[in-house]
Amino acid sequence: MKTDVLVIGSGIAGLSFALKTARALPKATVTVICKGKEAETNTRLAQGGIAVVVDTVNDSFEKHIYDTLSAGDGLCNTKVVEFVTREGPARLEELVRYGAQFDRTADKMLDLAKEGGHSLHRVVHAGDFTGLEIQQTLLAQVTNTPNILVLTETIAIDLITEKDLHTTKHSGKKNKCFGAYVLDQKTNKIVKIAAKITMLASGGVGQVYKHTTNSAIATGDGIAMAHRAGAKIKNMAYVQFHPTALYEKNKDANFLISEAVRGYGGILRNSRGIAFMGNYDSRKDLATRDIVARAITSELGKSGDDHVFLDCRQIPKADFIKHFPTIYKKCKRIGINPRATMIPVVPSAHYCCGGISTDPNGETSVTNLYACGENSYTGLHGANRLASNSLLEALVFSHRAFKNSVKKIKTQPYKKNIPNLLLSKDRQPQTKAIHRAVVSLKETMSANSGITTSYKQLNKAILLLKDLQTKTPRRQGEAIHARTLELNNMIDTGLLILKDAKRLKKNRGVFYNTDLESGKQAGISAENLHELRSHSKNKTKSNTITL
Ligand code: FAD
Ligand code: SIN
Repeated sequence: MKTDVLVIGSGIAGLSFALKTARALPKATVTVICKGKEAETNTRLAQGGIAVVVDTVNDSFEKHIYDTLSAGDGLCNTKVVEFVTREGPARLEELVRYGAQFDRTADKMLDLAKEGGHSLHRVVHAGDFTGLEIQQTLLAQVTNTPNILVLTETIAIDLITEKDLHTTKHSGKKNKCFGAYVLDQKTNKIVKIAAKITMLASGGVGQVYKHTTNSAIATGDGIAMAHRAGAKIKNMAYVQFHPTALYEKNKDANFLISEAVRGYGGILRNSRGIAFMGNYDSRKDLATRDIVARAITSELGKSGDDHVFLDCRQIPKADFIKHFPTIYKKCKRIGINPRATMIPVVPSAHYCCGGISTDPNGETSVTNLYACGENSYTGLHGANRLASNSLLEALVFSHRAFKNSVKKIKTQPYKKNIPNLLLSKDRQPQTKAIHRAVVSLKETMSANSGITTSYKQLNKAILLLKDLQTKTPRRQGEAIHARTLELNNMIDTGLLILKDAKRLKKNRGVFYNTDLESGKQAGISAENLHELRSHSKNKTKSNTITL
């Protein structure tokens, strides 16, 4: 199969990129693949919203930049933080033009919520189902764009690259991408898709952990594939745990209780009813996620409990239902009335701050391969992502990648004579063995590389994962099945996280090794401040949006 552009992923990053590219080049073919249904994404689950400077009276780009750098604990790329923040309003305006409906106040202004680490109300949202609104809006636009083809239940196996085609001649050269081998799960056939440009927008890694807020699709496939193709991967040790996932006994998938609930007055309490966050940070419940998650872990260590509580009893029922309808419904379904009973919560793996390293245009270190969204590392998040900056990043970088790739799409030739992927005939997938291996991987990662870690734990986990790797069929010459492919990718991703963690000599942001000096959160570094001052000169133009 041939397509001008291959997009791997149907979340906010993949769909935004596909839409813009297809509309700018109506004669080009754009193929979007996703391994489940179109809307099985982390995007669909997003609750809180998108952080954008739209309040031109109280807010400013400088404040958003400052909050992002401060959360990132000295590891953000200041230049990237600046342009993402400044380009945010224009990207949001496009979403509104596509038809996304966000909550508005009585005077028709965008209603803004507050989340941890933000110095003021800045988060544009649609109730607590912002992601669903965005996902549906983008999918509706895609359906109306004739030169976009969406292939569901089609899982990418590996990228097709120069390195694989010419193993002997290639050594030392920059690798080049020509598309991907994919498995059509409906027919069980392997298809080679030749593309001029390939965009990896395959989302996060949450499924590598036992407890996660993430969708089942978040198995690190894009990062693992890019790594196998020799792309630069960065900062994988910085995995963010969301402080308030709903605690449900014996359940691994954790429903999220949005940080916006704390922004609306929700208070964390331990089992003795004590509001403890004041003991850890002056911002109390609205400190950044790394601080709140560690504070909860410390409380649980002291009490021996397996969860703390989010007290929302002070929030009027009508307000709760209006702002958090999805959370209210979920609570009611499991017998919790938030007005009368505190909600049990526990930290849960949520977001990968690292990923495939890109330049400011979303280009990776492999020629003709772009990455965008949660599987990328752009420099925006540093050591800890500021709440609601992920959807923003995906919008800004998909636009930049689109702008950058248009010329290439017009001029690049297709790679000819791509060989077939050699695989032996399918055997029955060993479903039970794969399931056992996945459980073992998740337990290993959660026990040894969670909110805190140590060298001993990291070494142990690396050994366990390597052992699992030798026992797991790799794709070459072995049975091929979507779950086996995912397991391989999860092992590769787990090892990338563990090995990156071993390299770190300093605790910062979401990373905490108990063998290293405890240190206080550095927040915004002197270097960040210096860069910011020099970049920001003459840049404080007014925010002219028509939202
Ligand atoms: P996704 O939306 O996850 O899409 C990934 C796509 O890749 C899917 O279509 C999947 O099928 C496809 N895919 C994966 N592997 C393969 C493969 N091998 N072959 C083919 N296709 C593949 N961020 C915010 O900014 N604000 C929020 O309020 C917010 N709330 C959140 C709430 C929850 C519960 C969660 C889990 C995350 C939240 N986030 C939030 C983070 C944010 O939603 C995600 O980072 C973002 O949506 C990721 O978008 P994406 O396009 O990169 O990936
Ligand atoms: C939330 O609503 O708490 C999640 C927001 C985010 O992950 O940015």
